[in-house]
Amino acid sequence: MFAGRINEINTFEHGLHQTRNGSPTHFLITGERGIGKSSLLMLYKPLADGSIATEYGNMNFVTINTSISPRTNLNTFIKIIDKGLKRELGKIESVRSFLNETWSFVQRIKIMDSGIEKNSVAEEPDLIIDDLAYSLAETCNRITNPEKGEQAKDGIVFFIDEADAASPELHLGYFIKIVTEMLQQHNCTNVMFVIAGLPEVIGKLSDSHESSLRIFHHLKVKELLKEDRYYVIEQGMSEGNRVNQDLTTISDEAKSRISTLSEGYPHFIQQFAYSAFDINDDGEISEHDVLAGAFNEGGALDSIGRRYYASQYHEQIKSDEYRDVLAIMAESLSAWVKKSEIRQKFTGSDQTLTDALKALTNRKIILKNPSKLGEYRLQQRGFALWIKMFGNRDK
Ligand SMILES: Nc1ncnc2c1ncn2[C@@H]1O[C@H](COP(=O)(O)OP(=O)(O)OP(=O)(O)O)[C@@H](O)[C@H]1O
Ligand SMILES: [Mg+2]
Repeated sequence: MFAGRINEINTFEHGLHQTRNGSPTHFLITGERGIGKSSLLMLYKPLADGSIATEYGNMNFVTINTSISPRTNLNTFIKIIDKGLKRELGKIESVRSFLNETWSFVQRIKIMDSGIEKNSVAEEPDLIIDDLAYSLAETCNRITNPEKGEQAKDGIVFFIDEADAASPELHLGYFIKIVTEMLQQHNCTNVMFVIAGLPEVIGKLSDSHESSLRIFHHLKVKELLKEDRYYVIEQGMSEGNRVNQDLTTISDEAKSRISTLSEGYPHFIQQFAYSAFDINDDGEISEHDVLAGAFNEGGALDSIGRRYYASQYHEQIKSDEYRDVLAIMAESLSAWVKKSEIRQKFTGSDQTLTDALKALTNRKIILKNPSKLGEYRLQQRGFALWIKMFGNRDK
């Protein structure tokens, strides 16, 4: 059911081609919650490992997948890399013993982490990163220039998802910047990093190392185009009809409704379509089914809200007046709104409005325009959409 993303796929294929030929290309993929970042990575992986052909033929990269949580520190991260490489490459005896030797420093980290050596102090991140870069370069050179009986590889691609969750202790920006520079010094030119996360990840990377952003090609994942939305609906219908005994059809108006309500958010398309299918009882999904499925109690909006936005709206914001400010801002979706415009519609005091804007900015729910005084906008368009529609439903 994967739709669209032609440009993102072409750019990535080109990046693989470049990396295979010794000009490593790194990607930073950002986009709002549920827009399709992880799904894009799931498609990138087979392109990199050769299970799906690219425009430049079948690639043959070793791929390492990882996803970051707030608890991930440098040591866990390196252990994941070590484990991933051994899993992917360790099937051949000679490579396995090569890896064990080259990555022996990980053993040291494990011992330190387990506290067996009681007096050992945690190692400097610099030293660990240095060891890692060296081992990675050795590994990459070995697999691209294999010894007898070993299979050649194009290089290594790291997929790092949920990078917005990175804690400052992970030093992610610094890590990537130093590792890529050191790889170059060690003549290792076939390693690619692909990092995905919410737009906040940009700030996290540059906080960790100012110029770390410069190494990336930045791909912003956007809403699906109209024809892609239709494609998702139609694929879903034919898959449904393949597995169900009773056939279901869908009217053009219903498709169009799902498409516009979703605003191109793939998870919204799925949810609106699912709820319409659920409510339909005559074999044809009509516009009415879509609307009832979307706005009814327990319908699409409720489900989406519960999954993605409810905690932001109810738990992180304690005051009803702050929520009023958000509702006013949500009318403009995620476009910049002047404080004076909000004030016109806001029924609370000036002070409350000022406090609300400050608190919401601090919690990164809204953004303050850095280049224009007194302008704010909702951080996520999807969240704005949800607030807007959720409010409408209550009315
Ligand atoms: N291009 C696409 N075509 C069809 N469906 C898609 C596409 N992209 C994503 N989806 C669907 O939308 C849903 C959300 O996608 P996904 O989990 O990839 O988003 P995400 O950006 O990684 O979200 P999060 O920020 O929560 O990690 C998934 O169920 C996925 O199957
Ligand atoms: Mg994701």
